[in-house]
Amino acid sequence: MTKDLPKLKNIPTHVAVIMDGNGRWAKKQGLMRVRGHEKGAKAVRQTVETCAELGVKYLTLYAFSTENWKRPKLEVDTLMKLLVSSLKKELPTLQNNNISLKAVGALELLPATAQKELQEVIQATKDNSHMSLTLALSYGSREELISVIKNIASQVKDGNLEIEDIDNEVIHQHLYTSFMPDVDLLIRTSGEQRISNFLLWQIAYAELYFTEVLWPDFRKEHLIEAIYNYQDRERRFGKTSEQL
Ligand code: FPP
Repeated sequence: MTKDLPKLKNIPTHVAVIMDGNGRWAKKQGLMRVRGHEKGAKAVRQTVETCAELGVKYLTLYAFSTENWKRPKLEVDTLMKLLVSSLKKELPTLQNNNISLKAVGALELLPATAQKELQEVIQATKDNSHMSLTLALSYGSREELISVIKNIASQVKDGNLEIEDIDNEVIHQHLYTSFMPDVDLLIRTSGEQRISNFLLWQIAYAELYFTEVLWPDFRKEHLIEAIYNYQDRERRFGKTSEQL
């Protein structure tokens, strides 16, 4: 840990981020929206490195939602190109910090070049164990839950699962995110206070943190502020303070 980092106890195991405000950032500067995404892609590295430095074990970033496919073609194409170029550029960052990359979502809808690059980086980093970085791409939580329900229903139909045995754990095992624990801290930038179809099941007990900072301006100090804020909260999981 570097000297300038405050000593932090009770670090969230799983941090998830809705990186919002790229378009507004660009508009404020009188630039095209895509310039905001470029700047947003650059901001990703500091959050990844800081989480790794602090000892966060899982970081999940909402990089592209199922709804984002409806944006103008230029914007979608730019985001896909940015994904490919960022993956190429950031592989050393992942290796140097011992971070493995994963992706969740309807990945088959991504352009072939993006799928290929993604698989290459996933493969190259699969044995890294310090932190797991997951990109939610072409991701929608309702779509994920529909796939969970379909899979469980077909197991029941085939006689491999009893209805009475369906519980939290069975659902967890069928989620795209089955390799991770639930989210502890969910951060959304840009002042919007919505979940926007992100990890609906996984945030059941997450602390929610909203900041006015636009994603391209989000830096190490903003992340540390969010973690301090998280540490000041009492997570009761339905119990009383006295029971904790
Ligand atoms: C929301 O801003 C952001 C996105 C839809 C995409 C997030 C993508 C990046 C940060 C860059 C690429 C990511 C990686 C991992 C390489 P918005 O466009 O909705 O902003 P607005 O609400 O101000 O219009």
